[in-house]
Amino acid sequence: MDNKEIIELLRADMRGEHQAIIQYLFHAYNMAEGEITCEVETISREEMRHFERLGHAIVELGGDPTIDREPVDFAVGSPKEMLLKDADLEQVAIDQYRDHIERIDNPKIRRLLARILHDELVHKGDFQGLADEAEEEGQELAAPPDVEAPERQEDILNSGIRHEYTVILQYLYHYFVAEGKMLSEELENIAINEMQHMGWLGEALGERGGNLDMNHTEPFLSRDPEANLQANIDVEQEVTGDYSNQAPELQDEELVELVERIRDHEIYHDAVFKDLLEQVREEKAVKSEQSTEKETPAELKPRQIPTVGSLKKK
Ligand SMILES: [Fe+2]
Ligand SMILES: [Fe+2]
Ligand SMILES: [Fe+2]
Repeated sequence: MDNKEIIELLRADMRGEHQAIIQYLFHAYNMAEGEITCEVETISREEMRHFERLGHAIVELGGDPTIDREPVDFAVGSPKEMLLKDADLEQVAIDQYRDHIERIDNPKIRRLLARILHDELVHKGDFQGLADEAEEEGQELAAPPDVEAPERQEDILNSGIRHEYTVILQYLYHYFVAEGKMLSEELENIAINEMQHMGWLGEALGERGGNLDMNHTEPFLSRDPEANLQANIDVEQEVTGDYSNQAPELQDEELVELVERIRDHEIYHDAVFKDLLEQVREEKAVKSEQSTEKETPAELKPRQIPTVGSLKKK
């Protein structure tokens, strides 16, 4: 099987991981806080790790990681029903990984998929156990059925969720294609921070009986680090303005505090991206200087004659 075909299979796996992440989070935000909900969120984070590993593997093979997802079932059922749906989705992943492992002959990719498959088998058992527990312990939904979030509150929190979701995908993609440790580490850190934001907003809305809208808008994706960082600065500044305008409208003290806290993180992200952009530009300038030096004929560059010291180092 050639790399192109392997990449297609891994992209399909990414779409499945993405679907699982969002389905599990949707269920977690719609259930009352507690041990069961915590475990669901932990499993969702493991799916994020899978998503990440697959994205890196695709880049290594010369492909393009996908941020598409398989369709998510956004129905709120009883906690037990939702957890059983999650167990079923694990079975879908298990079947798909088994099939891909059988078809792919690249040993490194097979090893990766076998590792992920092992996790999915554990997750399936976990979800089945959690479904039983939810029934026995009377796990409740996040809000009683007669509680409904005020419309404006729901709109504001949902627009926050959509923003956070969009930038998670945007920054993860930039992270997959980034060169250089510093840049990729910062992108990963900020993406993780945005995941926290989405979690806080999702839980807050679920608790208040809001209907969660877990969809995203169009992220900015390119392979040009300068263009990516500029887009990140723009989106951070835009959302800082949105959160600042929206916070006073929320009325609920706890929510005002939450949104202001997130807004302050966004101000920090803006500054980090600006620093990174400056650095990327400096590195680019140094590189282009070096390449013009290389273009100069050798006889004009006495410095290129190796010294004894430099030869020894080799
Ligand atoms: Fe997974
Ligand atoms: Fe954020
Ligand atoms: Fe941010």
